[in-house]
Amino acid sequence: MYIEQEDILKHISAKPFHLISEAADELGVEAYVIGGYVRDIFLHRPSKDIDVVAVGSGIELAKAVAKKLGRGAYLSVFKNFGTAQVKAGDLELEFVGARKESYTHDSRKPVVEDGTLEDDQNRRDFTINALALCLNKDRYGELVDPFDGLTDMDNWLIRTPLDPDITFSDDPLRMMRAVRFASQLGFFIDPDTFDAIERNKERISIISKERIVDELNKIVLSPKPSVGFDLLDRCGLLPLIFPELCALKGVETKEGIGHKDNFAHTLMVLDRLSRTTDNLWLRWSALFHDIAKPATKRFDPRLGWTFHNHNFIGEKMIPGIFRKMKLPMNEKMKYVQKMVSLHMRPIALSDDEVTDSAIRRLLFDAGDDIEDLMKLCEADITSKNPEKVRRFLNNFQKVRSKLADIEEKDRVRNFQPPVTGEEIMETFGLPPSQPVGVLKEAIKNAILDGVIPNEYEAARAFMLQRAEKMGLKPARP
Ligand code: CTP
Repeated sequence: MYIEQEDILKHISAKPFHLISEAADELGVEAYVIGGYVRDIFLHRPSKDIDVVAVGSGIELAKAVAKKLGRGAYLSVFKNFGTAQVKAGDLELEFVGARKESYTHDSRKPVVEDGTLEDDQNRRDFTINALALCLNKDRYGELVDPFDGLTDMDNWLIRTPLDPDITFSDDPLRMMRAVRFASQLGFFIDPDTFDAIERNKERISIISKERIVDELNKIVLSPKPSVGFDLLDRCGLLPLIFPELCALKGVETKEGIGHKDNFAHTLMVLDRLSRTTDNLWLRWSALFHDIAKPATKRFDPRLGWTFHNHNFIGEKMIPGIFRKMKLPMNEKMKYVQKMVSLHMRPIALSDDEVTDSAIRRLLFDAGDDIEDLMKLCEADITSKNPEKVRRFLNNFQKVRSKLADIEEKDRVRNFQPPVTGEEIMETFGLPPSQPVGVLKEAIKNAILDGVIPNEYEAARAFMLQRAEKMGLKPARP
């Protein structure tokens, strides 16, 4: 990974770096930028969070830097952790003192003591994250790389600085981080490091679900997420953190008929979708779209393998899985549920002659998420038969253009009933009751089925007619 010294200096040329330099020299401590910020200089990736390690007190250095930055700088001190944060504009500086950890025989709790820069680098997760750039004036911009992180960067390798069993037992989340960096950066996990993940995987149980899901989100958002999920599967972490996805694995054959491997299919859909969207929740929808296939799988001697209603059962499984994995139980989850429940609809529409009414109903059910749904469905076509793929994609084009025509004509995408419940109650002198709901539903169906246009006058006339049949008389004509 070759980079000119001049380029390195450019990345530490902003005023706060020089102020850290001055403050460190005045306090007589060594100060280094370390971790992700330095790694990303070499990878030519943009990076905002800056970690600074002081060989001495990180908190004292942070205080001095905040003072020099003056107004507009905000200091927060976390005494218990021995860290401090300074925010200035869109820069976020994290300060920590160099530390070493030692373990006593009779306690699993580490004793944290002040240490040297090398002690601190030893305790970091991966060699590419242990690179440090000195900020003291006489060594400004000098790279300290005791584990040859630059060579690992050249070889696209994720490797722990120490024996991986030690690094992972210090913080088992690092096993997830190894996979995440491999997926995010397109790196490989060093074989010894990978073997240690397999050996230590059970230790992931002591890590909070929130931290695990943070890493999963980064894997989902990586350029080719299947890289991360394949690695999670191969090292044995996947069944521990997302067993429902694992359950999609495998192919069963009966009477000479097999079904596709739904795990491989799901990852292919996710990769294909990732080429067209950065929407985290749409990508999660791909992971969940066939989640109920194992639960709904049946063998029918006439039809072969069936997965009836896997979309609806999948929709119902989602809250339980979201709760367990600490994914958000809010409108994001509802969106994923909606995508999963609707993911069969466009393909059904493209099968044969499509009625306007079916298109209107799809628009009504998908609302503003119709474009996302179409993307998911297009990504779902993973057949190896090019003729079949061509036919489906062609039909999808037709569905898209029909969707556009109908929306232009009928505007049902964000359907608001032209006659409201209040108006129905007022017209017939009714309290909130079942007949009001029945009339509302009848008006909606008449519009979606194209019996009447989506307009007030037509809807009111339809309501009066239908109410008469139900024996209702207007309180005010
Ligand atoms: N680190 C570590 N072990 C962890 C988390 C972090 O050793 N479990 C160290 C690494 O040196 C890492 C640095 O702390 O580079 C900063 O961590 P963090 O901000 O979480 O990650 P970055 O490496 O900066 O990467 P990203 O911003 O992509 O998460």
